[in-house]
Amino acid sequence: MSKKILVLPGDGIGPEIVVEALKVIKRLQDDFGLDVELQSGLIGGCAYDAKGQPLPEETLLLAKEADAILLGAVGGYKWESLDISVRPEKGLLGLRSGLELFSNLRPAILYPQLASASTLKADVVSGLDIMIVRELTGGIYFGQPRGIKTLDNGERQGFNTLVYSESEIRRIARSAFEIAMKRDKRVCSVDKANVLECTELWREVVTDAVSDYPEIELTHMYVDNAAMQLVKAPKQFDVMVTTNMFGDILSDCAAMLTGSIGMLPSASLDANGKGMYEPIHGSAPDLAGKNEANPLATILSVSMMLRYSLGETKMADRIDSAVNQVLDDGIRTYDIFTGGLTKVSTSQMGDAVTAAL
Ligand code: IPM
Ligand code: MG
Repeated sequence: MSKKILVLPGDGIGPEIVVEALKVIKRLQDDFGLDVELQSGLIGGCAYDAKGQPLPEETLLLAKEADAILLGAVGGYKWESLDISVRPEKGLLGLRSGLELFSNLRPAILYPQLASASTLKADVVSGLDIMIVRELTGGIYFGQPRGIKTLDNGERQGFNTLVYSESEIRRIARSAFEIAMKRDKRVCSVDKANVLECTELWREVVTDAVSDYPEIELTHMYVDNAAMQLVKAPKQFDVMVTTNMFGDILSDCAAMLTGSIGMLPSASLDANGKGMYEPIHGSAPDLAGKNEANPLATILSVSMMLRYSLGETKMADRIDSAVNQVLDDGIRTYDIFTGGLTKVSTSQMGDAVTAAL
């Protein structure tokens, strides 16, 4: 039976990068027997414009029925003044929590061909291969109470709550350990246990959970130090596991080690391996419609989808080799362009990868 993929292009550059990923999927269907059925839906600002909601009920239903979801990006200036409850980002967060996609994998891999595109020295980043495992459905992003209230003295006060239960910490820790078992078996858990009780518990539970994984070498690091170490000596890390907000911040930082945030895919998985796949960059409204964005993060997200949710390892490898081939050939979108190579548009990059398949 063919697997169902729900495609949610979203806003900004989302639609144009997703089109390139779809070319890749089509090629795999036509020439390599990939058996998938595609559906599409609305999410984010475009969904708000059409339906008054950033996550329409029918999108959530389609997402629940799908075996995997491919998402472009959400958000843009146009919707920034909306009430926070209907902003495009709420659509994405609603999908993450509605599907219980608690485990967010953000690999930061430096393609050797791009060593000179990083703002860091080539010897600091060459060979870099980090997996950031970000908790995605809890923490301060979802904690209650939250809001903005007016105090008795008339001054307004904003507040959010950082909250994690033991079971939430344990499942993300186990997720990180499972991934590390297939890699170098080293996990660094990132917290702020010196200040925040919530992450004091985090450290305790992660430490307890590792007893089921005797081969894993577990270390702990405060988030401020982790940010510093990521730019100072990033190759010390294998797998990093952390909270929703710390993971949001550290993964952008790690992305830049690889030359461009336009290169980084991600997977957001539930307890059964069902997942949503998206580039970690946002909707980049300034670039939208210019045919300049880098579609590789989205194309590599398709590769992660094939690997993690659809059990199609060979096809995933095929995409990864095609991307390598294109980079070997010196083909670059502007964000990874360095002199002497061939600068191409979004659609030309998609065509190049499709041809290399
Ligand atoms: C990300 C993004 C999202 C987040 C936004 C768009 C809500 O920055 O996926 O990293 O903060 O999680
Ligand atoms: Mg982010």
